Amino acid sequence: MVVEMHAGLASDGGSKLKMLLTFVDALPNGNEEGIYYAIDLGGTSIRVLRVEVGAGSVIINRKVEHQPIPEELTKGTTESLFNFVALALKNFVEKEDGKDEKRALGFTFSFPVRQNSVSSGSLIRWTKGFSIEDTVGKDVAQCLNEALARCGLNVRVTALVNDTVGTLALGHYYDEDTVAAVIIGAGTNACYIERTDAIIKCQGLLTNSGGMVVNMEWGNFWSSHLPRTPYDISLDDKTQNRNDQGFEKMISGMYLGEIARLVLHRMAHESDVFGDAADILSTPFILSTPRLAAICEDDSPDLSEVRRILQEHLKIPDAPLKTRRLVVKVCDIVTRRAARLAAAGIVGILKKLGRDGSGAASSGRTRGQPKRTVVAIEGGLYQGYPVFREYLDEALEEILGEEVARNVTLRVTEDGSGVGAALLAAVHSLNRQQQGG
Ligand code: GLC
Repeated sequence: MVVEMHAGLASDGGSKLKMLLTFVDALPNGNEEGIYYAIDLGGTSIRVLRVEVGAGSVIINRKVEHQPIPEELTKGTTESLFNFVALALKNFVEKEDGKDEKRALGFTFSFPVRQNSVSSGSLIRWTKGFSIEDTVGKDVAQCLNEALARCGLNVRVTALVNDTVGTLALGHYYDEDTVAAVIIGAGTNACYIERTDAIIKCQGLLTNSGGMVVNMEWGNFWSSHLPRTPYDISLDDKTQNRNDQGFEKMISGMYLGEIARLVLHRMAHESDVFGDAADILSTPFILSTPRLAAICEDDSPDLSEVRRILQEHLKIPDAPLKTRRLVVKVCDIVTRRAARLAAAGIVGILKKLGRDGSGAASSGRTRGQPKRTVVAIEGGLYQGYPVFREYLDEALEEILGEEVARNVTLRVTEDGSGVGAALLAAVHSLNRQQQGG
């Protein structure tokens, strides 16, 4: 991971790790004040937020509304998707503040974007099952601004950010030792604060802080060291983004259930453990990740929840206890591998930052007192799936050693990707005012 990080920072296309510039060189520090909006687009639903902040890192009020994205919009046209998003914001603003409210807007757009500034950038390609061809290459902030204008709303994008960057912003707002952020939800990704002089591909990049947040797009990380199985290959073959997002396909919520389903399908095919009733296991995505989690979390002596899921969702009635145990084992192995890979990724970032206790060779820092390090983390897998969290925490300690791990805190942020975007809108509208813009 560290080698690929260096390669991605050295040149565009130097690695499958894109290491994208975000133009975020200042993170919220608690002095922000006012009311800001945010839109969070990047998974199965959009979130619309209104955040009121007061000096001294106080979030006075936050209002969040979720709205599921109709599946057809994820494969339709740019205009229909952005109209949907703009309308959701319009209804929200009118309800909260009345018709003509003009405020700064943070736009969390959780896909790989090549940014030109903190408030603009073009989509490199879709991930996580979205596929709207005509958006690729377009400035997504402009797409949203145009849709906002079409529906008569007087609000424009002030900060365009990845969900990892929003999460880092909120983490940093509460705790200045926060240097990186990780998302493990439908997709997975991480960002961290890099020194500008280490971003070789962008020589002469100057920022007041001397640093910039880099969006790694680690979901696309690839290495021959990854434990790739025939199940990973079958899964990849059937996705729209074949040969891409390899790390994400081993870790994130969109894929874990499907990996386990592929294993169970092969077992059904090559043995009679599931009897005749196993045909349904040939249906892609029949085992969702929340069900895989429920299977792993079942601690009843007779695995009654596993029995229920097998019966109701996989149409496998009366699986004996031994078979239910086997299913738990498969789901557990898939979960454990994912959590351990994510932990290894986090250690990669710590290593790059010289905070993994190994003497900081890669960052040029010298060995000294271990620094307290906070990594903000968000996403359903870490937050809502205790077994996953346990495996991740355990692996982190195993790799770093107990002493170093003691200085590393993974801090869960609630709605950080959206709230953080609102805070970044605050930071950047303030900067603009100060510059007379
Ligand atoms: C995918 C996206 C990335 C996002 C991640 C988590 O990997 O490409 O931008 O941060 O999902 O939502």
